[in-house]
This record gives sequence, C-alpha cells and structure tokens, in this order.
Amino acid sequence: MVATGGGDCPGLNAVIRAVVKRAAQERDWEVVGGIQSFDGILSEPTEIRVLDEHAVSGIHVQGGTIIGTTNKGGPFAWPIRQADGTWTTVDRSDEMLRKLQFLGIDAVISVGGDGSQRISQALFEKGLNIIGVPKTIDNDLSSTDFTFGFQTAVQIATEAVDKLVTTAASHNRVLVLEVMGRNAGWIALHAAIAGGAEVCLIPEIPYDIAKVQERLEKRFNRGKGHAIVVIAEGAMPRGGEITSAKSDEIGYQNLRLGGVAHKLVHDLKTRGFEADMRETVLGHLQRGGIPVAYDRVLATQFGVKAFEMVLEERFGEMVAYRHPNIISVPLVEAVMQPNLVDPEGSLVSTARGVGISFGV
Ligand code: F6P
Repeated sequence: MVATGGGDCPGLNAVIRAVVKRAAQERDWEVVGGIQSFDGILSEPTEIRVLDEHAVSGIHVQGGTIIGTTNKGGPFAWPIRQADGTWTTVDRSDEMLRKLQFLGIDAVISVGGDGSQRISQALFEKGLNIIGVPKTIDNDLSSTDFTFGFQTAVQIATEAVDKLVTTAASHNRVLVLEVMGRNAGWIALHAAIAGGAEVCLIPEIPYDIAKVQERLEKRFNRGKGHAIVVIAEGAMPRGGEITSAKSDEIGYQNLRLGGVAHKLVHDLKTRGFEADMRETVLGHLQRGGIPVAYDRVLATQFGVKAFEMVLEERFGEMVAYRHPNIISVPLVEAVMQPNLVDPEGSLVSTARGVGISFGV
C-alpha cells in the first residue's frame, strides 16, 4: 500500500506512479493507495484504491496526490468528539495494524515529511513492514540532500520575486515576499539568491530590525530606489519569537506560521522608515501546480527505490538522496534532527558574496 501524508507537495503523484510501474515488473504484486493517508484504513467502510498502470498513467505531471493526504490526526492521535462536544484523541494504531493484516497488505510505502515519518517509525516499532519516502517543500529532512517538491517551491518563489521586481522598480517601493518553509529558511534563501533580493530573513539567523532598516535606507538615496525582501515564515527578530497561531482545526497539531511580512513592514514603519512598502504572502501557491522536472525525476527515483526496498525487505528505512546515489537510511536516524540552513554554510556565504543582507 502507498500512503501520502502531510501537506501536499509537487511530486507525490510521480512517486505513486513510479511505485506502481516498478511493481508491475514483478509477478504477484498489487499496489493499492490508502485514501487520505492512513485515515482510509481506519474509515468505515475502508477507503483504499487499486492502483494499476492505467490508474497512474500520466499522473507524474500533476501536482497534489491522487489518493489524497492529511496533516491532521493519524493512527496514534485520532480525533474523537466526546459527549460534552469537546474533542480528544485516541490511539487507533493497533486497530489499524489488524485492519492492514486483514486486507492482506504486505508492506506500506509511506510518503511524507518529518511528522509522517515519525508515525512510520512508530508503526515499524509495532511490527509494520514500512518504508519511508521523504517529501516536503521545506527541504527540512536530514539524511537526504533534497526532498522532492522543494525545487518546485523555489521556482514558484523565484518567479514571484521576478514579478515583484517590476512593481518595486516602477513605484520605488520595498516589496516584501513571505515564503513557506516552517523552521527552515531554504526556500527563502534559494529564492533570494535566484531572484536577486536585497534582504533575506530566515529562522536560522534572527534579524536585527535596525540593520534591515539601515540596508534598505541605503537603497533609497534621496527617496529613489527599490528593494525586494524575502522573508521565511519562520523568521524572527533577535530576542523575539516566531509569528504563529494555534489552529482551531480538529486534529491539527502544528502551529500555523505566517504574518512575518506584515510584522516586518509594520515594525519598519514604526521605526520611521519612509519608503512605500507592500507585502505579499505566497502561501499555498508554493505547493500547487505542476512539479518542475527536477522534482519529477527525484520523486520517480524515490518511488522506484522504495519498491525495490520492499522487495529487499528493508523495512524501517527511508529512501534518501545522497548525490549521486539514491540510498536508504534508518527511519529513526532520518527523523532525529531537522535539516536547517547553516548560518556559516556555503549558501549563506554565496548570498553574502552577492551583497544580500541577513539583517545582522
Ligand atoms: O510543510 C509544508 C508547509 O507548506 C509549510 O511550509 C507550511 O508552514 C505548512 O506546510 C502549511 O500547512 P497547511 O497546509 O496545513 O496550512
């Protein structure tokens, strides 16, 4: 069974297609998809879909996932409404394992980010034959050089910078672009370099608002000039906190990030910075549309490898890319630490080398 969990991500369908196509080369294997990740198994009636070559034909060019996904709840924290109307969570993992056995599922390929792979590891510890495939636009999973979906998000963010430049230049404005990435600044950093931003603010380098202002003022000699600021949703000022809100959606455990661009513009105004400023929040546009070729290729590599790992019974491991090879690593290792931007690393020094300010 293939399950896609967490936020949707360009390349998920390419993984599904690759698993099915590779499986079709073996005898005696049938692939099914769990609808909405593991929720389909726990639903009554069970929601799974047979995935044959016909079902996956041409889907590698489509964004999203044909079997659906969820980033709420899961088998270990299934939300249920109590008699008084409030919600609580219950562990339904044992029931799910029994159901998988009943359905004759020999192995599960779980495509997801850090949260999903933690669930994979916990299910593996309970005896499930499971293989992980790393996905996320945030590129924040260690053990793999890249996750698929990331390059598409960077491309979309870069195109947004390119478009904002025209308005910034025409109006002598500062345009602030807020991009996703959770606690990792990868999308922001890549888009800032590719798009030629003046300032790039990322969670790994808390910024000093005075330094941001100083840099922008330099661009606005005698009131003329323009600048692009790319800010990651997880960025924060020195000594400050992440800008987030608790979600009121049932079963949604993550903090919802967002609002940093608005805060930055507000703080700069309050400090007396006079140039016109506007903010753009790119949001889910970064996860939508067709995957770029790089992500289709990486996702296809991951899908083929994942099925071959099933054949080799390498359960409890996750597919990973270590240039130039596709390898496998223990899931437990893969979820140990996030992959964050190294403030002293080569990409940050490249950005500094072309004059990008990190507000420090
Ligand atoms: O992890 C991918 C991601 O797009 C993050 O960059 C972002 O913070 C989060 O998911 C948004 O999640 P949701 O789709 O639940 O709003």
